[in-house]
Amino acid sequence: MRIIAILTTIGLILGGLLIWFGVFNVAATDKHFVGTVSFLEMVRERSIDVRANTIEVPDLNNEELIKEGAAYYAEMCTGCHLAPGIDESELHSGLYPQPPVFTDTDYTNTPQAQFWVIKNGLKMTGMPAWSPAHTDEQIWAMVAFLAKIKGLNIAEYTELSKETGEGHSHGGTSDHNVEEHEHNH
Ligand code: HEC
Repeated sequence: MRIIAILTTIGLILGGLLIWFGVFNVAATDKHFVGTVSFLEMVRERSIDVRANTIEVPDLNNEELIKEGAAYYAEMCTGCHLAPGIDESELHSGLYPQPPVFTDTDYTNTPQAQFWVIKNGLKMTGMPAWSPAHTDEQIWAMVAFLAKIKGLNIAEYTELSKETGEGHSHGGTSDHNVEEHEHNH
């Protein structure tokens, strides 16, 4: 009992000293150990799965919804997540963890998890929560678009994400108006 108490105290003091002397480097350029990455990824996946797996997915094949999502994506997401024809960016290369590239062949995730992350953001990653300025329907539009992004070439992507005026006033699918949207971005 006594030994455990002494060891715990020493551990706490050592931990405190490591923090106080700034041994842990918070620089984004200082990469985690492989084991730390796996651990953090596991924490992230479990946290998202538990919260997202009961979310009901609407029909994501609606053309209007996909087009609406494409316009949002082009406007708000490409700086970090890239797109067909956008192969690198300063934000994408400088962020750590690096934002996933949705056109990568090995990228997959469930619509529920994507919806949850876009809505709520991810702590300490740089991924913002978009719910303060967007309705659930608008977030589903982005998820619907993400399901199609891999199959698009540059011309198709450019055409799909083009603002159509009416389409970009959020297609009458929400109470969100253009001014408000542009003001926010
Ligand atoms: C400032 C940079 C930034 C912007 C802007 C941004 N993201 Fe992210 N996003 C990230 C980072 C960083 C992650 C998390 C990486 C990690 O946890 O490994 C992420 C994660 C995600 C994920 C979860 C991916 C997965 O399957 O694990 C989705 C989905 C996503 N973002 C969608 C979007 C959408 C849609 C937009 C635009 C509305 C957007 N992001 C804008 C940086 C950004």
